[in-house]
Amino acid sequence: MNLKIAVLAGDGIGPEVTNEALNVLNAVAKHGGHSFTYTDLLIGGVAIDAEGTPLPQATIDGTLAADAALLGAVGHNKFNSFPPSQRPEAGLLKIRSVLGGFANLRPSVAYKPLADNSALRPEITEGVDIMFVRELLGGLYFGEPRWWNREEKLAHNTMVYSEAEVERVARIAFKLAQGRKKKVTSVDKANVLEVSQLWRYVVDQVAKDFPDVTLEHQLVDSMAIHLMNRPKDFDVVLTENLFGDILSDEAGVITGSLGMLPSATLGGKVNLYEPVHGSAPDIAGKGIANPIGAILTAAMVLRHSAGLEKEAKAVEVAVAEVLAAGYRTADIARGDIAGQKKVSTGEMGKAVLDAIQL
Ligand code: IPM
Ligand code: MN
Repeated sequence: MNLKIAVLAGDGIGPEVTNEALNVLNAVAKHGGHSFTYTDLLIGGVAIDAEGTPLPQATIDGTLAADAALLGAVGHNKFNSFPPSQRPEAGLLKIRSVLGGFANLRPSVAYKPLADNSALRPEITEGVDIMFVRELLGGLYFGEPRWWNREEKLAHNTMVYSEAEVERVARIAFKLAQGRKKKVTSVDKANVLEVSQLWRYVVDQVAKDFPDVTLEHQLVDSMAIHLMNRPKDFDVVLTENLFGDILSDEAGVITGSLGMLPSATLGGKVNLYEPVHGSAPDIAGKGIANPIGAILTAAMVLRHSAGLEKEAKAVEVAVAEVLAAGYRTADIARGDIAGQKKVSTGEMGKAVLDAIQL
């Protein structure tokens, strides 16, 4: 199979972790006789430095010409005083909107030995396997009008969703649930927000087409606590854009580290793949970042863009094995637990590579 992949490594630890993801893709390609080709493109802070904009036209064109886009991370604190529209993050939001993918899948799997490293007790986290489906193109992130008027000492953002926007992402959540434990938890703030009332109404309508799937509604504030107290009760969790941003970070507690989480954005012209974590400029270039989020993101490329499900699974199994064998980057290491092998970004990547059985 042939796959043209646009590589948007971005800022901070983005290039380091993306490198490990590419090693995994190359190993799979080599073994199966597939041709994966890569085009490096600028996004985020590195694009601002080089071209004066967080998303150069060449990046847009190159990504649209690819079959899949793999992103590392964007953001750097040196741009903290910039307005949102000129920050590195604006490049990511714009490429999301250009590509048009609206369903951001964020699987959160608690790998068993990592229970040791979670702030939660092992019996709470063991066996957790949640698929967050975060709506990625609507809500407060993109709603207009948006402004900050310094003289008026006033700022404004808009939370807006159409029924069609909710329906299309809800359908994806229900379809995914059919292949899993057949439960959808839809998250909203329907006790306060009209937008959430519309959200709940549409999700209820969509649920009628999926009688084999159980639907529950949760308010986002209580969902935040249920996720910590009883994460095993959840299967597919459907959220609007901002709630999903927040809750998927919270899932990093369940999985031991934010560095563990991958994502895939489907439904647009080109699927966009990115780990959930940020650019972590404080540890960039030190070779200590956790590449597992990026490697699991590569597995999602194999699954959703290359149609290589067996190979995707093999990568995920290799990650589980390497963790079981005690390999730990700094974010998931605990000095007081015997048998842990503290490794660098590259050593973790290599350990996963060596464990992949194709
Ligand atoms: C994420 C990130 C992004 C978001 C930022 C970098 C714009 O936090 O992918 O979760 O808020 O969506
Ligand atoms: Mn986030």
